[in-house]
Amino acid sequence: MSKVLYSSLEEEVLSLKRERNAIILAHNYQIGEIQDIADLCADSLRLAQYAAKTDADVILFSGVHFMAETASILCPDKLVLVPDLEAGCSLAGMVDTDQLKKWKDEHPEGVVVAYVNTSAAVKALSDYCCTSTNAVKVVNSIPRDKEILFIPDYFLGRYVEAQTGRAIHLWPGYCTIHVRIKGSEIEKLKGEHPKAEFLMHPECGCMTSTMHLADRILSTEGMVNYVHESPAQEFIIATETGILHRLQKDNPHKTFYPAARNAVCEYMKRNTLEKIVDSLENLQYEVKVPKELANRARLPIERMLKIV
Ligand code: 13P
Repeated sequence: MSKVLYSSLEEEVLSLKRERNAIILAHNYQIGEIQDIADLCADSLRLAQYAAKTDADVILFSGVHFMAETASILCPDKLVLVPDLEAGCSLAGMVDTDQLKKWKDEHPEGVVVAYVNTSAAVKALSDYCCTSTNAVKVVNSIPRDKEILFIPDYFLGRYVEAQTGRAIHLWPGYCTIHVRIKGSEIEKLKGEHPKAEFLMHPECGCMTSTMHLADRILSTEGMVNYVHESPAQEFIIATETGILHRLQKDNPHKTFYPAARNAVCEYMKRNTLEKIVDSLENLQYEVKVPKELANRARLPIERMLKIV
């Protein structure tokens, strides 16, 4: 291939995308430059739904590894690429298949609801998948007499318990970024910005102690939609700070305060425009869930997609 000179990385990405018949899916926590060139920038649920319907040949997933695995499970015939194989997820690493098998043995009647932030192998041992957008809906769809095992996020699980009024067995996992958001800091920010609405992601480590302070508890996409509709002009945002780019871009006249400036996911931030160029040019790095595993992991994901 003769080397063409481009005036910007963005232009190079767009040209490679056309050449490869590729789409770029970016999570709301990606750096601004990636959000801006993506075909879709969204939360994990919308990204999975979009992946399931695309007719592109190549899906470049700029997020973290479990999201690309989900795309591979839903689109076994597509080439799914990630810009950096080291972009993992601290939360997804909090439960493995041996631990889950042991927990299931202790609760043989238990129905396993797995947050989408889990590996394909863990999903394959689960009954339902959920995201932060639909976790309450998914649990409400399960008959009330069933015992529920919720993995791996303890704080999202506590939120679902509060919303559904059900006792749920909770796995003690957490997101190492969301636990940096502290209740004491939120109280201070609310004092400094009394007119600001406080929006909180259910993965926050201070979730259980500050749930009563939140104006809304929402997924990342829920925050985007809510801010658009709300008459408020200021917002305190308790989640990974990447979302502020999209919020500010969509609402240039509104003001956003991160609940914690250090809530920056170093995995999400491993992806760069340069790596996306390399990825599309060299068709690297492929994420392919083996067929037999994908067939099992697809069931809980498809159950979720039917509920929402
Ligand atoms: P959302 O589904 O709200 O985008 O959250 C995904 C995630 O990975 C949060 O850590």
